[in-house]
Amino acid sequence: MFVIMTAKMSQSALCMYRLLRLRALRNHGSIEMFSKVTQTTRQDCFITTTCVNRVENDDTKLTRVLLPRRRSLSPLERVSSLLPQDSLTPEVEELRRPDQHHLENGHPRLFDTEATEANEEETGFSGIKNGGQLSDCASSEVAENQCNGASFQPKGETLLTFGEVLVAEYRKKGQVEFRKMFQLLARTQLQSSWGVILHEDIAGKPAGSFIKTHRGVSILIRRASLEDYVLFMKRAPTIAYPKEAAAMLLMMDVTEGDCVLEAGSGSGAMSLFLSRAVGTSGRVMSVDVRQDHLKRAVLNYNHWRTSWELRRGQPWPNNVEFVQANLCTDTSVLQDREFHAVALDLIDPHLVLPIVIPHLHSGAVCAIYLANITQVIDLLEGLRCSRLPLLCERIMELPSRNWLVAPALQKDGSYCIKKASITHDNFEEDDGALEKDQPKQEAAFGSIPYIARPHPVQLSHTAFLVKLRKYVQQPF
Ligand SMILES: C[S@@+](CC[C@H](N)C(=O)[O-])C[C@H]1O[C@@H](n2cnc3c(N)ncnc32)[C@H](O)[C@@H]1O
Repeated sequence: MFVIMTAKMSQSALCMYRLLRLRALRNHGSIEMFSKVTQTTRQDCFITTTCVNRVENDDTKLTRVLLPRRRSLSPLERVSSLLPQDSLTPEVEELRRPDQHHLENGHPRLFDTEATEANEEETGFSGIKNGGQLSDCASSEVAENQCNGASFQPKGETLLTFGEVLVAEYRKKGQVEFRKMFQLLARTQLQSSWGVILHEDIAGKPAGSFIKTHRGVSILIRRASLEDYVLFMKRAPTIAYPKEAAAMLLMMDVTEGDCVLEAGSGSGAMSLFLSRAVGTSGRVMSVDVRQDHLKRAVLNYNHWRTSWELRRGQPWPNNVEFVQANLCTDTSVLQDREFHAVALDLIDPHLVLPIVIPHLHSGAVCAIYLANITQVIDLLEGLRCSRLPLLCERIMELPSRNWLVAPALQKDGSYCIKKASITHDNFEEDDGALEKDQPKQEAAFGSIPYIARPHPVQLSHTAFLVKLRKYVQQPF
């Protein structure tokens, strides 16, 4: 009995001692977070302490256990710590500031420190210190690059120069109102409904600059990507659209050094994508029956190459051979040629297959672009009748759906604010148990509702793709 009583007494004495230690710690400001727990009710505190008493017998562990589980990083902390710090908007930096002030004051809250450590573990980046500058580097390669600064700069970045193909773009409320591809030329103006910009005012600027028209409207000036270029370039026949062109490259598994046959050349869009995929050591043979189409394809190809060389200071590979021939009848044009892949974009592909397929490597793919499903049926019927060693592996369409995702705005242009949901924290604040004098953050991260729905303007059907694989024919 005595032993039990003594044990009980010493247990409660230990409990009191630990409670006092904790209070002392709190008064030193070391664990402000804990104050939220201890300030609630005595009963809460007692329960917590009792629980700890059962589990721990060491002060350090006690402190750790008594603290609530490591607070999960807020969305703002998580997302913004993953972004390059110099890309954060002033708004986001402002929202992060209370935490930074806290660090700067030399009284880091335990949960803040842990949060920073967690970031470092997850991202390989050091935490944000000294007003958002990266002050410490983890050993990972990524972190080294971050610290090094210069290694994140694209090497040999060049300023916009005359002769380059550029795109001018104006967006209003996130929507593109104006987009135009043009070549930067001396003594020329960029005309738009939003005003005029002299090409001289663009030359020498970095790509991605906003330049004001004479009416004061800022227009984004950037270099044309290959996708922009093929969509905006002058056309003879309709082009293979970039999303299908990219899928065809995947289907054919085209890689650096490959030798690819393309028919027909048309306006040269697919030729450019193939040219890029096979690289300097590869070759593309692009065949078209019509001279005018071939001429347009060559012009478009050379125009892009010239712009590329001005941009990069090194030539685009000259790896496409444009040939005029009718692949339905001209058997000699492919003589002694072999291909790793074949890309067909013409009305009746089944008519050229008997001439083309003998020059395709066994096991390789012929990818076919067809606008209409009736053409797909004609192709399959043609295959059934021809007995060519081809397996139809896939018939596909690539729908792409644009979405409108943007902060909801009020009529006056300011952000709408989400209605606060009723949470446990709200109740505590209402009770006045937590810091009432904390400044309220306006439009805090996650407080703005977004509209998020399919865009009213959608790209319509472009094409069907058919993937044929050549197999080894068994001798009869
Ligand atoms: C739709 S266009 C190709 C567009 C091209 N893929 C592009 O991205 O710009 C079809 C081309 O196939 C060519 N063509 C049609 N039948 C042909 C044949 N039997 N032999 C060679 N070319 C042919 C046409 O002259 C036309 O230029």
